[in-house]
Amino acid sequence: MQIGMILLRLVTLCITVVSFGKPALSEPSKPNIVFVLVDDLGFNDFSWRSSDLQNAWPNVNNLVKQGVRIDEYYTHALCTPTRTAFMTGRMPLRQGLQNGVLTPYERWGVPLSERTLAEKMKAVGYQAYGVGKWHLGYYNNASTPLQRGFDRFYGYYNGLEDHFTHKIDGYLDLVDDGHVDASRLNQYSGHLFSEKVESIINDHKESFPEKPMFLYYALQNVHEPLQAPAEYTDSSACAHILNPLRRVYCGMARAVDSAIGNLTQHLEARFEDDVLLVISGDNGGLPMAGGNNFPLRGQKTELWEGGVRNNALLYSRTLIPSTLRGTLYTGGFVHVMDWHATFLELAGASNLAGLPTDGFNVWPAIMQNSSSPRTEVALNIDPCTGLPPFTSNCNFTIGGYAQAAYRQGDYKLLLGVHYDIVIPVLDGASNASAEVEWYGIPAASGGVKFNKAAGLKDGLGQTSWLFNLRDDPSERHNLYDTHPETVRQIKAKIDALAKEEIFACGSLCPVDKSAQRQASKLGVLIPWVPPNDEALS
Ligand SMILES: *[C@@H]1O[C@H](CO)[C@@H](O)[C@H](O)[C@H]1NC(C)=O
Ligand SMILES: *[C@@H]1O[C@H](CO)[C@@H](O)[C@H](O)[C@H]1NC(C)=O
Ligand SMILES: *[C@@H]1O[C@H](CO)[C@@H](O)[C@H](O)[C@H]1NC(C)=O
Ligand SMILES: *[C@@H]1O[C@H](CO)[C@@H](O)[C@H](O)[C@H]1NC(C)=O
Ligand SMILES: *[C@@H]1O[C@H](CO)[C@@H](O)[C@H](O)[C@H]1NC(C)=O
Repeated sequence: MQIGMILLRLVTLCITVVSFGKPALSEPSKPNIVFVLVDDLGFNDFSWRSSDLQNAWPNVNNLVKQGVRIDEYYTHALCTPTRTAFMTGRMPLRQGLQNGVLTPYERWGVPLSERTLAEKMKAVGYQAYGVGKWHLGYYNNASTPLQRGFDRFYGYYNGLEDHFTHKIDGYLDLVDDGHVDASRLNQYSGHLFSEKVESIINDHKESFPEKPMFLYYALQNVHEPLQAPAEYTDSSACAHILNPLRRVYCGMARAVDSAIGNLTQHLEARFEDDVLLVISGDNGGLPMAGGNNFPLRGQKTELWEGGVRNNALLYSRTLIPSTLRGTLYTGGFVHVMDWHATFLELAGASNLAGLPTDGFNVWPAIMQNSSSPRTEVALNIDPCTGLPPFTSNCNFTIGGYAQAAYRQGDYKLLLGVHYDIVIPVLDGASNASAEVEWYGIPAASGGVKFNKAAGLKDGLGQTSWLFNLRDDPSERHNLYDTHPETVRQIKAKIDALAKEEIFACGSLCPVDKSAQRQASKLGVLIPWVPPNDEALS
């Protein structure tokens, strides 16, 4: 019966697409697809979900009333793995990108054997555009967006750069279709990328009026360094926030909302036909840089829910049935890599040859409010127990791992995962250093924290955990010792998957001295490895 309903819904969808789209005699028209990825936006930082930043999101709050939100939405714990999963539709452990993030001098990236979503969309007639952060490798030209399916790309190759100088580690990292753009000093990236997106949409409509568009809009906000123009931090949504970190963070969120407002205005002015907009976070918030994941435990970089559970919103003027507008989808999990399969299906590209993907097409389930096809999710299998200072505990043996987390149904198993707390919002009354104590490792190097007052020290020192997230979404009650059979079952899945991983370059590959030499000679970060040289493995 369910399959029948799915088919019925698909048929209805096709009819909808045809009737609202540009006339197409032989095949249904393909929707324009815009994917907005917001960098480091915590669970408690986005629109309807936020306890204290809700007013920073006037434009998104309006979209929420007409769109569909995803309740149990997962990403990976860091930028590079999440982007890899989205672009390839495959788990980052298959690409050696399961540990840490790519650093500027690493001779590694998404392997060239992979086909990106942009390449696949292009193969079925889309024009593909990217704006913002790449972070999937740039050691050679073949790894950069223009050679990975994007017709145009404006943005930067690395992470963690200054929002005004566009430099990381002292070197400029900003390219316009592969050419260094040194003309944007002091222009805030939130404004810059917003401007570029508008011009790309205009150019697309002028140059390719009959072609559908795929736009990957990977904002730099709200990633550290914490920087926002005064127009946002001093806005009424943010000015009252006493904690200075949180106030600037609010300003950065306000800038994202303004960018999304401008995007939707522009799309609606230029497109009469179908546009599907998906807005997603890429990993948990980082409290020491203003983010917050309350009431979830943990933060960015960690496999706790606060690191990997996030928010997503779907919006379309034409594709979402009126009965679903403004609703929260609670039919099960959606993982960021599922957009890959979902967009391919909507684009009519699901039959393309290529490497087998790990994601699901979640469109029928969301559009008819039925159960998600995804009932489990590998949150990561990592050869190391985290970022420094814990990377010393690494196991590179294929099939081995030092840290892993896997959710199956209501249960989530975490192995090799260090303690963290439910970190409170940094409001005026409670400043970061008073609420959260650091132990052992100095705060500056990202040590594990615990909150004395909250009495959450139980479990300090443990690294094996099992939670029933249906009853206990904040991961407070460890069932590891009392549910050995569930532990055994989920661990068997982790062990089997671990055998499929390839060497984790991620943050572990050595610095390539020739990359550093080129950067210091040219002052810019651009590919340095000639076409026929191998990646380091
Ligand atoms: C959105 O557009 C308005 C009006 O042009 C502009 O003032 C604002 O800076 C834009 N927002 C961003 C984030 O660029
Ligand atoms: C979707 O399904 C859930 C679970 O069956 C139900 O609680 C909810 O009301 C439904 N939402 C809509 C908009 O029909
Ligand atoms: C590494 O993983 C392998 C395979 O699971 C295991 O046999 C070995 O004991 C592990 N080594 C360490 C140091 O954890
Ligand atoms: C924050 O807490 C620390 C440690 O208790 C204290 O020294 C500091 O004065 C507090 N700062 C503010 C702005 O309240
Ligand atoms: C990348 O391509 C550009 C443009 O063709 C070329 O000038 C540059 O030398 C190439 N870089 C590398 C490292 O191959």
